[in-house]
Amino acid sequence: MKKIKKAVFPVAGLGTRFLPATKANPKEMLPIVDKPLIQYAVEEAVDAGCTELVFITGRNKRSIEDHFDKAYELETELSYKNKVELLEHVQKIIPDNVTCIYIRQTEALGLGHAVLCAQAAIDNEPFAVILADDLIDASKGAITQMVELYQQTGSNIIAVEQIDPEDTASYGIVDVYADAVSGLNRVRNIVEKPQPQDAPSNLGVVGRYILNPTIFNLLRTTPRGAGGEIQLTDAIAASLLHETLLACYFDGTRYDCGSKLGYLHANLVYGLNHPQVGADFKEIIRQTAAKLNLI
Ligand code: G1P
Repeated sequence: MKKIKKAVFPVAGLGTRFLPATKANPKEMLPIVDKPLIQYAVEEAVDAGCTELVFITGRNKRSIEDHFDKAYELETELSYKNKVELLEHVQKIIPDNVTCIYIRQTEALGLGHAVLCAQAAIDNEPFAVILADDLIDASKGAITQMVELYQQTGSNIIAVEQIDPEDTASYGIVDVYADAVSGLNRVRNIVEKPQPQDAPSNLGVVGRYILNPTIFNLLRTTPRGAGGEIQLTDAIAASLLHETLLACYFDGTRYDCGSKLGYLHANLVYGLNHPQVGADFKEIIRQTAAKLNLI
């Protein structure tokens, strides 16, 4: 089985749900405590063995490129002031053996179109897609779990989890069954953002995918779907005619950091677990909760 060495990060979205914070800054640069969302996503890919990272960017996304670039001035300053620990943090954001490629998506035509923009960089290899606003807290990264499944099967894989049945219109929704022979969870059907009454289940797609390069031919002919956009879900649905699609019920907790509540929730949990500030933060929460009569 081919190794998964490449990961695609679609980061061209406008992040309107976080305006005005995202007026001049990408939503992927919003921090969870002290690290931007995109860095968590990159670390997950690198931990899974990816060495080529393909960012599909748009206007106002320069700071993502800067974040993963060398910062000579800052590094000189930190080293001059002997701030060794901070210097190390800044220098090891990306390991030396990892390459970043930036491709501009000039029009916001949807997630499917963003992935299609990566074709020249992916070539004829299987690859991962990571949506940075789905932050997953897991002892073994979700993409690592999916790569392991890919090594056994060679199939396309999507990450899934149960969602509130009222929220189906915010997700790709799948219909899954256990394969009689392999026991693996196969997807029978996948639909983008159906209304609750039309949804085949309440199993939602989370922003992690392992795809074979055959997806590109399908994406090229995928018409605009939900929201008038070219949807990755629709191309994946078309692939079901010829290819197996597996659902991965990953081990871990997902925070929807594309929504304000999910973002705040993630900051709360990551703040409590933070080695430097966790203990003090817990105390602040205790005091605040008592003061506001929350408990
Ligand atoms: C995208 C996908 C959707 C998936 C979701 C997960 O939607 O199109 O199928 O369930 O990510 O976060 P978006 O949230 O970009 O609208």
